[in-house]
Amino acid sequence: MKPLKVALLGCGVVGSEVARRITGHGDDLAARIGAPLELSAVVVRDTAKDRPGVPTDVLTTDHEAAIAGADIVVELMGGMEPARSSILAALGQGASVVTANKALLAAHYGELMHAADAAGVRLEHEAAVAGAIPIIRPLGDSLAGDRITRVMGIVNGTTNYILDQMDREGWDFDRSLRTAQELGYAEADPTADVGGHDAAAKAAILSSLAFHTPVTIDDVHVEGITAVTSDMIATARAQGFTIKLLAICEKLEDSPEGAGVSARVYPALIPRDHVLAGVGGAFNAVFVEAEAAGELMFYGQGAGGAPTASAVLGDIVSVARRRVLGGRGQYERNVASALPVLPVSA
Ligand code: NAP
Ligand code: HSE
Repeated sequence: MKPLKVALLGCGVVGSEVARRITGHGDDLAARIGAPLELSAVVVRDTAKDRPGVPTDVLTTDHEAAIAGADIVVELMGGMEPARSSILAALGQGASVVTANKALLAAHYGELMHAADAAGVRLEHEAAVAGAIPIIRPLGDSLAGDRITRVMGIVNGTTNYILDQMDREGWDFDRSLRTAQELGYAEADPTADVGGHDAAAKAAILSSLAFHTPVTIDDVHVEGITAVTSDMIATARAQGFTIKLLAICEKLEDSPEGAGVSARVYPALIPRDHVLAGVGGAFNAVFVEAEAAGELMFYGQGAGGAPTASAVLGDIVSVARRRVLGGRGQYERNVASALPVLPVSA
């Protein structure tokens, strides 16, 4: 079977992990997809930078050449431009696209999705919200027949790590943020994390999917954690609370304006015996309430290279299978194509 060419735009914390796994786990991925993946180009700013485990012969600064001829374009640069133009160019050429860029999606969701629909290809973005946690597909597909009333939780790993270190370890804000950056949790510009805008972008994406209506980051009320001090955390602790940055997205049926959506991000006091108080480090937790399903909870690593790469690779496998297998059956895509057959015991 002809290899599927994958162009990776960006090779930082997440991109380098994705590149290493595409090259290191090639046989597994090929068996699950039904065709091998070929890392045809890796676009970066600086081709001379040391990137352990990433093939150097495909590093380039030429976006256009990298996208031309690619079957799958994976955007992991972040920011608005050139990410937006590159994704539109890739879709325009009929490539499937995978991105983790929540800032871009929260501003241009409609434009990008329409471009994918017009081109008849997929634009997948599971990694854009809550790192490794599958939440985009559950909201967009599994729960699409239900009526979701509320999505709320911790959706930013950096701020959760900072607040957790300040609370449990007594670290100050600067040390906690610096360590979160070193661990690969923070955005290239961490003011998006600590200012609450990263969580607000995710709240916009979650609201759009959950409530089937366009919601952008400008619609989300945002307060970050920059005003939260060690003293506040100590006072909260003494009174049996902890402070967490929450994102709350709700369907409003009875507001004075009629039906609507409310999305907000702010630091909240949580009783220490509440399940959210136990979400430590860079972990995320998302609660979903739906009319028929009732309450669901999603929990896991919300940031970092490997957890995010897991979600990106899931999207790559998904779009690659569509390109290889088209409309063939679910069983074939998920099980029968995965070789070799493993022994099964009772
Ligand atoms: P990062 O470490 O800053 O890496 C960014 C990469 O993009 C670098 O390789 C950089 O090249 C390249 N790049 C940036 N601007 C470029 C340009 N104009 N042309 C060519 N290459 C460019 O970022 P990251 O943490 O991997 O995040 C990537 C994306 O994933 C972002 O959208 C982020 O929001 C999202 N995300 C990150 C996480 C996480 O935990 N880190 C989790 C979920 C989603 P150089 O290496 O040459 O500088
Ligand atoms: N900076 C983001 C966070 C990365 O800390 O949650 C994951 O989206």
